[in-house]
Amino acid sequence: MDRPVDRRTVTKGAGALAGFAAARALLQQTALAADDSTPTGASEQSLYDRLGGIFAIAAVVDRFSDAIIVNPKLNQNPALKAWNQTEAPTRLPGLKFMRTIWIAALAGGPFTYTGLPLHDAHQRFHLTPEEFDEVGAEIVRALDYYHVPAREKQQLVDAYMLTKSEVATAPQ
Ligand code: HEM
Repeated sequence: MDRPVDRRTVTKGAGALAGFAAARALLQQTALAADDSTPTGASEQSLYDRLGGIFAIAAVVDRFSDAIIVNPKLNQNPALKAWNQTEAPTRLPGLKFMRTIWIAALAGGPFTYTGLPLHDAHQRFHLTPEEFDEVGAEIVRALDYYHVPAREKQQLVDAYMLTKSEVATAPQ
């Protein structure tokens, strides 16, 4: 292969899950994963099932991940621009996979996220709150494109917003 894949993020220690576990706990408090709090006491489908499972989540991730690469507002930050131009060809497929698993696991699907804590994965990009919000806008556009219902869309946006302090680490 003329572009060897950088394997630095393929395997992680158990400590990598700390940030994810905290986010998952927060989401469960707000009934974003399996929701057992219906008035009848009947168990509702998990957010994962209500979204349509792994294929539906992967389709949304695929779309917003491609949009981020070419969004002019997300090509001003030099580190992000360099990633979009030189690393994306070999790393974007894996990034889409990791994002899909992250969302699927958080939404209550039968998956475990084993990647880097989000803080570690994004620290080198020094992302600003404005860049974070623009990625959020791309996620909403992708959810709208696939006609994800308002409630599920809001729950995913809420989950995304919970990661802001971990991901957007640029000095204010
Ligand atoms: C401003 C917002 C964000 C931008 C621009 C961004 C972009 C990136 C980039 C360029 C990478 C590096 C991939 C590599 O290692 O080569 C990455 C890693 C990653 N991002 Fe994001 N990201 C953002 C927010 C998020 C959020 C909120 C999530 C959670 C759904 C997420 C999930 C991930 C995952 C799972 C990884 C891979 C972690 C690993 O290497 O183990 N990202 N992101």
